[in-house]
Amino acid sequence: MSIESSAVPAPAGSPTASAAFATGSELETRALHGPLPADKELVLKVIPMPRDCNANGDIFGGWVMAQVDLAGSVLPARYVDGRMATVAVNQFIFKQPVRVGDILSFFAAVTRIGNTSITVQVEVFAERFQAQGSHFKVTEASLTYVAIDSAGKPRKIAKP
Ligand SMILES: CC(C)(COP(=O)(O)OP(=O)(O)OC[C@H]1O[C@@H](n2cnc3c(N)ncnc32)[C@H](O)[C@@H]1OP(=O)(O)O)[C@@H](O)C(=O)NCCC(=O)NCCS
Repeated sequence: MSIESSAVPAPAGSPTASAAFATGSELETRALHGPLPADKELVLKVIPMPRDCNANGDIFGGWVMAQVDLAGSVLPARYVDGRMATVAVNQFIFKQPVRVGDILSFFAAVTRIGNTSITVQVEVFAERFQAQGSHFKVTEASLTYVAIDSAGKPRKIAKP
């Protein structure tokens, strides 16, 4: 699908949005659709472009990882008053491929606040550009961020 060549998308829930673009694989994907997480906060929305594709024409996993790293840092920034660094990607699961033009929504929740580090769970949901309002999970991940001082050494986080 090309965003540049597409007409103005039909509103979510309209017959055009849900039927006109349905292919076999889209119908399979639709079976995975579910509600967005109520226990996490929407921290980022982004639309991948053709330059973000791999050789298969799907979105490159490394691009998704970079966005998840950015999204995951949003909530820790509220606790870490200053610099921080990603110390670990504890888990990263690509559940479904992402396509050019998908609208990706990144939801996050803090799962642990340690002495110098914060761990965050991130879930990524996609909605097709021309079938908006119906989301399916494409990625989930857990990342840990460390508060660092000006020398790049861990420093204590003031707990809430
Ligand atoms: C982040 C960094 C400063 C941590 O330094 P360190 O000496 O390894 O720190 P420590 O061993 O004291 O651990 C600091 C915190 O990180 C946590 N941590 C360290 N390694 C971890 C791992 N593999 N998984 C999860 N948490 C980890 C520790 O549990 C600790 O948290 P706590 O104080 O809340 O208990 C250092 O590893 C670093 O500079 N890494 C590079 C960061 C970076 O460049 N990130 C971007 C990658 S492109």
